[in-house]
Amino acid sequence: TLAPELKDTSPENLLAPVLSAFWDEDRSWTLDVYKRHEGYEGLRKALAMSPDDVIAYVKESGLRGRGGAGFPTGMKWQFIPQGDGKPHYLVVNADESEPGTCKDIPLLFANPHSLIEGIVIACYAIRSSHAFIYLRGEVVPVLRRLHEAVREAHAAGLLGKNVLGSGLDLELTVHAGAGAYICGEETALLDSLEGRRGQPRLRPPFPAVAGLYACPTVVNNVESIASVPAIMNRGKEWFRSMGSEKSPGFTLYSLSGHVARPGQYEAPMGITLRQLLDMSGGMRPGHRLKFWTPGGSSTPMFTDEHLDVPLDYEGVGAAGSMLGTKALQCFDETTCVVRAVTRWTEFYAHESCGKCTPCREGTYWLVQLMRDIEAGKGRMSDLDKLNDIADNINGKAFCALGDGAASPIFSSLKYFREEYEQHITGRGCPFDPARTTAWA
Ligand code: NAI
Repeated sequence: TLAPELKDTSPENLLAPVLSAFWDEDRSWTLDVYKRHEGYEGLRKALAMSPDDVIAYVKESGLRGRGGAGFPTGMKWQFIPQGDGKPHYLVVNADESEPGTCKDIPLLFANPHSLIEGIVIACYAIRSSHAFIYLRGEVVPVLRRLHEAVREAHAAGLLGKNVLGSGLDLELTVHAGAGAYICGEETALLDSLEGRRGQPRLRPPFPAVAGLYACPTVVNNVESIASVPAIMNRGKEWFRSMGSEKSPGFTLYSLSGHVARPGQYEAPMGITLRQLLDMSGGMRPGHRLKFWTPGGSSTPMFTDEHLDVPLDYEGVGAAGSMLGTKALQCFDETTCVVRAVTRWTEFYAHESCGKCTPCREGTYWLVQLMRDIEAGKGRMSDLDKLNDIADNINGKAFCALGDGAASPIFSSLKYFREEYEQHITGRGCPFDPARTTAWA
């Protein structure tokens, strides 16, 4: 088994990939290649069990949602009421848009059948006969590849009527969104899928109770579902032997920014950024790490003091951040924190759906203040104002977009307040005087 190797997190032992095992193989996305790599073996094992046993098995594996929040996957499946007479739906959230996050799209592009196999297993478990993949609209090549993979699966009897003679009837619809970040929020996604403008709904009720068309719905991230076939095939003990007690298993980390070799790195949960940098050739030559995000810009940023924080929900959580999407954006000493936070803030203001006042108005005001400070027009009192506005957004909107906008403000002021002050006292950006417009 791979487990003992993966337990040892020394760099030479980390490259025993599961999800990305054959991404570089010729025509890796086809059913033939997938079948050569244990493809649909997990499904055969699942179909030999009862649906409830499959749910219990996934729950006992300890798999936690890979979309950012880390909610236990098996528990989410268990929430679906059985015998209620309503249709149940599985909706796969493939609307990956968190800044820096880029793991699901390559996974879908290189290995779409791992998702389709996971979907069939999940639908069998929750007794659903219709699943949806809500794909980020911009990635047309992935859309084509998914359509082709669904066609192949139908032709092979893995979708449609009586899947592999099990009695399960399953249709799978691939739906492309239109490029709105908010539609990655699960309830906005459901509204969008129903044909309405994508805006978050108030939770509870959670989708597990009233989701798509007001019916019980599991909404899971691509990577979460794509991880299920290997768990069913190789066993929950194998999965649990990787990572940590509360965050077991393997996962995809997306390394980007000023690193020597950016890309997807598959490794156990609980690895550290220092270990990932060792695997990937470190920061670009001659430079050092200044700040980084554990899971996209919505997660509070870290500095070089946090290189040894375990990247799981407990380690990162204890250190004051969230793990999020495992999008590790690394910035070196040449980066202006104020500039980076301004860009992120502009993103949140642009993507705010406008439904909740604190988020709609607050993100606008954060942008005004950040732009002023960056341009050398800021005042010292603006720093308290930034904190105050972020505080008025945080936890006060329907969804996590507002919290995401507040998070880089809080953490940059916590770790880099001096750099903000330099912009104010020096009346411009110390990194790039050309960006200083106010006093030119
Ligand atoms: P959440 O913690 O509120 O919910 C997580 C999941 O658990 C949801 O599916 C929810 O329905 C379910 N859940 C939670 N409590 C439940 C209950 N009592 N009963 C039934 N189901 C329950 O997190 P949320 O707001 O869904 O997502 C926030 C996360 O999304 C952040 O961690 C962020 O990192 C991530 N994110 C990911 C993006 C991406 O591109 N992948 C984009 C933006 C944010």
